[in-house]
Amino acid sequence: MNQQEQQRQYERVRGIFDEWARAGRAEGMEQGHGPAAREGFAFLEPGPGQRYLDIGCGNGYTVRWAAEAGAQAFGIDLSREMIARAKKLSAGIPKTEFQVCAFPDHPFEPGSMDRIFSMETFYYFPNLDEALQAAFDLLRPTGRMAVIVDYYGENQDSHSWPEHLGCAFDLRSEAEWEDSFHRAGFAKVQRRHFLYPPDPSKERWKSELGSLLILGEKKA
Ligand SMILES: C[S@@+](CC[C@H](N)C(=O)[O-])C[C@H]1O[C@@H](n2cnc3c(N)ncnc32)[C@H](O)[C@@H]1O
Repeated sequence: MNQQEQQRQYERVRGIFDEWARAGRAEGMEQGHGPAAREGFAFLEPGPGQRYLDIGCGNGYTVRWAAEAGAQAFGIDLSREMIARAKKLSAGIPKTEFQVCAFPDHPFEPGSMDRIFSMETFYYFPNLDEALQAAFDLLRPTGRMAVIVDYYGENQDSHSWPEHLGCAFDLRSEAEWEDSFHRAGFAKVQRRHFLYPPDPSKERWKSELGSLLILGEKKA
């Protein structure tokens, strides 16, 4: 994507999520994504003395989990309305900070994070590999990252989502996700699936394929 196309993508994505936040859908995402997010969060195990970042934090629910676990916790999101929601829901919770930014732009020093989390966000990036590299560079040695996606090659049911939302998504298979993590420099890369309990009122992919977790570490 050239510069102009990237800007258009950011504006489109920001518009969608500003609207979702205003319509109360951020809390719907928290509820829907929460169980898979818990699994990625358990891998990260943030705790006292650590700095935690959620990229594309939505209403900031994992930032609050990390702060409650004792970490200094940051959330960034492209959507101003999502960040406003996150700030409101986190008022009075110490060690939480939120900022609007279009990742891979960010306000942090390289090597300043111990744990990075991201749920259902990375495929919106106009340049996913650049974003993975930026996240890797943000981690300290021994740092860990968990990226979770529901839109991926093997999940055929998800392939219609970009058309439905009217914006471009980066579609990668599970193996391509793993390769992308390796290319960015991550070690001990793992792939996992989080399967949701079967529920006839929900889409079948949730219980049959589930959310894809890609987990990696930065060598000491
Ligand atoms: C599907 S929502 C997921 C939100 C949250 N992670 C959750 O689980 O509820 C994707 C989020 O990524 C944000 N986002 C998309 N592109 C972004 C970018 N380049 N930089 C920062 N945030 C971005 C959107 O604004 C949106 O809040």
